[in-house]
Amino acid sequence: MKRIVVIAAVLVFSAGAVVAQQDQVTQTQVVMKGNGKNAGALAAMVKGEKPYDQSTVDAALAQFEDTVKKFPTLFPESTKGLKPEGDYSASPKIWEDKVGFEEHIASFAKAVTDAKGKIKDLDTLKAELPVIGKQCGGCHETYRVKKG
Ligand code: HEC
Repeated sequence: MKRIVVIAAVLVFSAGAVVAQQDQVTQTQVVMKGNGKNAGALAAMVKGEKPYDQSTVDAALAQFEDTVKKFPTLFPESTKGLKPEGDYSASPKIWEDKVGFEEHIASFAKAVTDAKGKIKDLDTLKAELPVIGKQCGGCHETYRVKKG
C-alpha cells in the first residue's frame, strides 16, 4: 500500500502542473454541482414536492454567495481547454470575453444578495427563484458548453 502511495506521489509530482490544473477543473465542477443541487432543492419546494424549509433556503443562498466569492479563482487561464468528466465544460469564451464573464458574475451576485433579504416563505421563494435561475441560465448560455 505504502509503495502505491509513493508511486502515485512520484507520478503526481512529475505530472505536477497538469494534475494541478485538472484538479482545479474538477474542483470547479464540484462547486457548480453544489449550485445545481441547491437550486434543485429550491425548485422541489416551488413545485410542492417538498415542504418549504427556511434552513434549506438559507443554506442554498449561502452556497450561491460562496460561489460568487470563488468564481474569480475557479477558471484560471491555465485551465482553458481542459474538461471535467461529465456533460459540461467551460467555454473558451470565459477567457476570450473576460469582461462579459465578470459582468455575469456581478449580476448573479446581485440577484443572490437581493433574494437573501426577500425569501421568507413559499410565495417569496416562488417569486425569487426564477430571478436567480435566469442568472444561472444566462451565464450557462454563453460560458458553459454541453458536450455533444
Ligand atoms: C458566472 C457564470 C455562471 C453562473 C452565474 C452559474 N454558473 Fe453554473 N456553470 C458555469 C460554467 C462555466 C460551467 C461549466 C464548468 C463546469 O461544469 O465546471 C457551469 C456548470 C454548471 C453545472 C454542471 C456541473 C457538471 O459538470 O455536472 C451545473 C449543475 C450548474 N453550473 C448549476 C448552476 C446553478 C444552479 C447556478 C445558479 C444558482 C449556476 N450554475 C450559476 C458558469 C456559471
